[in-house]
Amino acid sequence: MPGNEVIPMEAPVVIPPIPEAEERNGELGPPDEAHRGKPFPRDEVRTAGPVAKGGIRNGVRPPTEERLDDAAIEAILRVREFSLFYGQTQALKKVSLDIHPRAVTAIIGPSGCGKSTLLRSFNRMNDLIPGIRTEGEITLRDLNLRAATTDVVDLRRRIGMVFQRPNPFPKSIFDNVVFGLRMLGLRNRAELEARAEESLRRAALWEEVKDSLGRSALALSGGQQQRLCIARCLAVQPEIILMDEPTSALDPAATARIEELLIRLKANYTIVIVTHNMQQAARVSSFSAFLLNGELIEYDETIRIFTNPRVQATEDYITGRFG
Ligand SMILES: Nc1ncnc2c1ncn2[C@@H]1O[C@H](COP(=O)(O)OP(=O)(O)O)[C@@H](O)[C@H]1O
Ligand SMILES: [Mg+2]
Repeated sequence: MPGNEVIPMEAPVVIPPIPEAEERNGELGPPDEAHRGKPFPRDEVRTAGPVAKGGIRNGVRPPTEERLDDAAIEAILRVREFSLFYGQTQALKKVSLDIHPRAVTAIIGPSGCGKSTLLRSFNRMNDLIPGIRTEGEITLRDLNLRAATTDVVDLRRRIGMVFQRPNPFPKSIFDNVVFGLRMLGLRNRAELEARAEESLRRAALWEEVKDSLGRSALALSGGQQQRLCIARCLAVQPEIILMDEPTSALDPAATARIEELLIRLKANYTIVIVTHNMQQAARVSSFSAFLLNGELIEYDETIRIFTNPRVQATEDYITGRFG
């Protein structure tokens, strides 16, 4: 059984080649081939569910789709009527939403509303919790995540995770970055070095550590450690990066650097971030999902959520009336 850590990997799998450095919006990013699989048929995405009670959308697509181009409507991850129970406690209640590629999606809501549970469901990090039960469907492109046959190790390479507290391993900076690659069976030193540099550059850490790659990762500052964890995640070329309150243990300056990084990464990566910081959600995300007591109350473009939400509870939350 894989452990409950970042990118637990056991079986050697085919490692995609180092992507050609590709310019998109002035940023380096992975080539499209890293994003394998087919997009979902347009009509399926468009007919994503009925409008439920009180105008709350149940199967959620961006309601403002007329303002979004085709690429933005495409979903990389689809969640349909997904429920999760911890024993008798229902932590998620028939949540339906589409995660859009090459964008930052924020999951917001008061403490205990199910944000982390939902995020962890995206790469089956909840699997090891005893007494857990799920219903509904989550698909990554054409892969049914909940299927017994789904290779969880490969899934966690495709959907990486960055945690609240930076969790570098007590190893060198270099060994941290290439950890996942080694687990995948990559041994060639030159290739490991090339990939380490590439990942550290993308995580905006290279300039600070290039002369001390052999130093212990634990000697880095908190903010540097978190960027190292992002580099470690990027090294195995994930299709989606999950971040659970990635800056809540950091000071404002380190937080600002991570936020800048997220804004740069979103040109090429799909990022889902849990945050209880409303300003952060507003600054970094394109879409926001508001959860309350395990229910998805509203999901829309961030600008809409923060300027003109459809549901009173959303407005109450973003204006600080509770939570
Ligand atoms: N391992 C667990 N076992 C039992 N209940 C849990 C577990 N993890 C979370 N919960 C419960 O599920 C609900 C949602 O928790 P969580 O997803 O951590 O919320 P959030 O991240 O929004 O603060 C809470 O009521 C919490 O107490
Ligand atoms: Mg949480």
